[in-house]
Amino acid sequence: MDWPLRLFFTAFLIAAAAIDGTQADATVAGTVFCDQCKDGQISIFDYPLYGTKVAVSCLDSNGQLTMWREETTNWFGNYAMRFEGTPDLSSCYAQVSGSGQGCGAEVGPPKNLKLMFRMFDMEMYAVDPLLSEPAQPMSYCPRSSATPVPAPVTPVLPPPKETPPVMPRLPPMPPLPPIPPMPPMSFLEASACPYWNWTMPEYKCYWKMVTPDMKVAVVFGLVVAQRYGTDMSLGMALKGRGDPYRTLLREATTALLNSYNSIQFAYHPLGVIQDLNLALMGSTRAVLRTGLRFMRANSGYGKVSCKFTPCK
Ligand SMILES: *[C@@H]1O[C@H](CO)[C@@H](O)[C@H](O)[C@H]1NC(C)=O
Repeated sequence: MDWPLRLFFTAFLIAAAAIDGTQADATVAGTVFCDQCKDGQISIFDYPLYGTKVAVSCLDSNGQLTMWREETTNWFGNYAMRFEGTPDLSSCYAQVSGSGQGCGAEVGPPKNLKLMFRMFDMEMYAVDPLLSEPAQPMSYCPRSSATPVPAPVTPVLPPPKETPPVMPRLPPMPPLPPIPPMPPMSFLEASACPYWNWTMPEYKCYWKMVTPDMKVAVVFGLVVAQRYGTDMSLGMALKGRGDPYRTLLREATTALLNSYNSIQFAYHPLGVIQDLNLALMGSTRAVLRTGLRFMRANSGYGKVSCKFTPCK
């Protein structure tokens, strides 16, 4: 699945929650990333940028501005705007218009809006990811191809001695209950834990990026909201069993937790979100297959164990 689709899945939730089916409207949604390596692409080092302003502007055939709207990205780097009626937004574009949290020295090019679907009186437009960049690429970014770096043992690990970058990470969260500090090296260690270990209270401190009461709809996006409702929390998702869909959600949630917990885990967090959404768009077989793939990753393929130690 390419980026526009991917962010379509993850970005529309807020908009979807606000949509009242009786009103005609158009929704525009997308994600802003901090392009830490300033390579113009989204790589493993890049993360969704919180608190950045995005503007959508529309020009008529004479180049006159006909519409303008600005919105700020949420914790997950997503923004969504709603336009009343069903205006044709295909000639509009979105652009980063304000600096985001420590990553706003330069902004990437504007992107067109793409009509994803039109249903009843509702239109959904998606925007390719917008980029915002720091003034300098981060020190751990791969150098340009002119100065090849020695092949690392694990591609995503930074060289030893350097401070390990926190990646991939979500932007700052609102205040959470105090969590006991984790040994920083644990993120670099290979670990894969099955869902039941994630539900055990003695390992609560391993929940770092997300909390058990966060809604799966917020974390995984619109398609997940449609399938599982907006009440289901991550904690509830971990207890799911019985049918393929609940099993898939349980294993995807576990995989997401594992991906935040260990850089060596088989999935990147965005990969978990993408694969879950893809499976839900597919057949029951796709649901079973993806659920099984997550389950195998969560079991460490019989090679990687669960490195939890009880929290203090
Ligand atoms: C995970 O849970 C199992 C079953 O409850 C338990 O035996 C095991 O010790 C746990 N693993 C870790 C690393 O804590």
